[in-house]
Amino acid sequence: METAELAVAGKVALGANGVPRPKRSAQQVERSHESALAAVAAVSSYLDSDEDLPAFFARLGATIAKQTHARRAAFWRLGPRGTLALQPVPFGFADESPVHEVRLHLGAKGEGIMERLVFADELELLKGTSPQLDAIWRESGLHEVKNSIAAAWRAGERHIGAIAVYDSPHGFTAHDLWLLRLTGAAAGLLWQYKEAEDELGHTAGRLEEAMAARRHLLNNIAAGGDEARRRFASTLHDDSLQLLTAAELQLERVRADSIGSHQAVQLEQLRHTLRKVEDSLRRLLTNVSPEPLQLAGDLRDAISERLETMRIRAGIQPHVDSRLPADVPPAIQAIMLKNIAEALNNVEKHARATKVTVIADQVEGGVHISVHDDGTGFVVSESVRVPGHIGLVAMRERAQLAGGWCRIESDPGNGTKIEFWVPLSL
Ligand SMILES: Nc1ncnc2c1ncn2[C@@H]1O[C@H](COP(=O)(O)OP(=O)(O)OP(=O)(O)O)[C@@H](O)[C@H]1O
Ligand SMILES: [Mg+2]
Repeated sequence: METAELAVAGKVALGANGVPRPKRSAQQVERSHESALAAVAAVSSYLDSDEDLPAFFARLGATIAKQTHARRAAFWRLGPRGTLALQPVPFGFADESPVHEVRLHLGAKGEGIMERLVFADELELLKGTSPQLDAIWRESGLHEVKNSIAAAWRAGERHIGAIAVYDSPHGFTAHDLWLLRLTGAAAGLLWQYKEAEDELGHTAGRLEEAMAARRHLLNNIAAGGDEARRRFASTLHDDSLQLLTAAELQLERVRADSIGSHQAVQLEQLRHTLRKVEDSLRRLLTNVSPEPLQLAGDLRDAISERLETMRIRAGIQPHVDSRLPADVPPAIQAIMLKNIAEALNNVEKHARATKVTVIADQVEGGVHISVHDDGTGFVVSESVRVPGHIGLVAMRERAQLAGGWCRIESDPGNGTKIEFWVPLSL
């Protein structure tokens, strides 16, 4: 049924949008505007205030009651199970009023007066009240209600509940109903805004938790490999090498006693073998000992040192251009160094290059690094997922985990360029 047909009571019909249809005097129109503005202003004031929701609804209830000459006003909120319950705080009801306990169970759309009100914003007004609505209040224990009207509280297709005003000394008019509808629509938009704000708050909270987890992970990754290497190196040093040294000393004593005997030659060979084992274990120790994360000099020195080793070992001419800030956080430094070290290891292992250029710069709140060689190049798509070869993949993952990116450009015969950017703050 159309709203216009329903709201014919009180000899005033409502047109489309719930606006009273009969001609009205300029004064009446002006009063309508004023009361509409007052209602909308009361709703929108929430956006600028720090008011909590109960205080806001108490104030909005007072405003709408005043504008409709009602003694009381209440917002009824539709719960998830189709139950209408009071939104705190209603205006004009005593603390001990049974209104606080009222629960109205709604059925399907169009079934009863409450369903039509909440879902279709339809209400019949008869002699200044809605008799059907009054009956519902009385059945619910609100015996003192003399007259009442209500409108849907909604935002577009979202049905949030209803807004009701009670007990006007001269009864309610269609104009009051129109005002109530306007307030219901404005309060609906506000409710949506509030829900979006809450959702944003939750999302921000979840984001902060995710960021904290990421920071934690990043620090673990920055320290993790080194921690494992440190454990391995200390076991190698403190157990294996100590035992080997002890064995060598014992052998030395046996050998001294056996000079001139037929075993002397074999013992000498054994000494040689043990020395070789020790040498290779010590080389292993040098290789696995973690580079210090707290750099002795600055990052530039660390990069230059690594390039110098490459020049001596592989004859690759280095070029460095570094404009790094002084205060790079340790976890970011660790990631940068690991990535640069991996890129340079690759140049040394695979590229057969003659030149390598490392450029480090501060860009957009982060550090941008590029490592460029003039070597053989390779087909990137074929090489990033080769089982057992994880250098490039790990580089990209480290950069992404730090909130940055990593790009690999290469072409057979045209050298390789590795670029990555990581933000300076975690
Ligand atoms: N600068 C480079 N020049 C030429 N080829 C390269 C270069 N960097 C990487 N590659 C090619 O890409 C492959 C993958 O590199 P990646 O670093 O992932 O693995 P890896 O170096 O072989 O092993 P690791 O897991 O020890 O790093 C290499 O095996 C090599 O073929
Ligand atoms: Mg590699």
